Amino acid sequence: MKIFIDSGDLNEIRDAVAMGVVDGVTTNPSLVAKTGKPMASLIREICEIVDGPISAEVLSTDAEGILREGRELAKIHKNVVVKVPLIAEGIKAVKVFSQEGIKTNVTLCFSATQGLLAAKAGATYVSPFIGRIDDIGGNGLDLVGQLVQIYDNYDFQTQVLAASIRHPVHVIEAALLGAHVGTLPYKVILQLLQHPLTASGLETFLADAKKIPTA
Ligand code: E4P
Repeated sequence: MKIFIDSGDLNEIRDAVAMGVVDGVTTNPSLVAKTGKPMASLIREICEIVDGPISAEVLSTDAEGILREGRELAKIHKNVVVKVPLIAEGIKAVKVFSQEGIKTNVTLCFSATQGLLAAKAGATYVSPFIGRIDDIGGNGLDLVGQLVQIYDNYDFQTQVLAASIRHPVHVIEAALLGAHVGTLPYKVILQLLQHPLTASGLETFLADAKKIPTA
C-alpha cells in the first residue's frame, strides 16, 4: 500500500519524508486554510519537498469552473492531482480531465455507487472517507472493501485511496482489504511506529550497555 500524508503543514511533510515513508500528499481546503497560505503557493512548496502525487482540491462546484481551476492547478507541477468533489458536475469534469491526461482524486466518497460512477468517468483515485462514515455509525472500512472488489472485478485502473483515516487500525484493515493508497495524518504515521515493548526494550538495552566494560 502506498502511503500519502494528509497535511498542508510543511514541517510535518518534511519530517515524514525524512523517514522515507511518504509516496505522496493529499490536501483539502480545511488543511490549506490552517496554513494561512494561498493554495497555489502551498502546493508549489509541497511539490518541492515530495516527488509523488500531490492532491490539490478545486473549490468550484460546476463542471466549467472545476475544469478551469483544475487546469490551473495542474499547471503548477507535473505531480499535481486535481481533487474533485463526488458530485454530478465533478464527474463530468473528471471525464474531461481523464481525456486530457490530467490526474484526478475524486473526494468525499461515501458509497459504492458513487465510487463506481467515479471510476467509470476515469478517476485516477477515489477517496472513501472511512472516519467520517464511522462517525455517523456506519463502517467506513466496508466501503473500502467494496470499492477494491468492484474495481478488481472490472479491471478499472482507478485506485482506492483510503482517506479520513483516524488511527492505526484503519491503516491495517485498509491494507488487508487491498486499498491501493492510504492517506494518513502525521499523527497516525507516528502512531504506526509506536510500541511499548520497543520503548521498554530499548531502555533496558541502553541501561545494560552502561555496564559493558570499555576495554
Ligand atoms: C482526504 O483526502 C481528506 O483530506 C481527509 O482524509 C479527510 O479526513 P478527515 O475526515 O479526518 O477530515
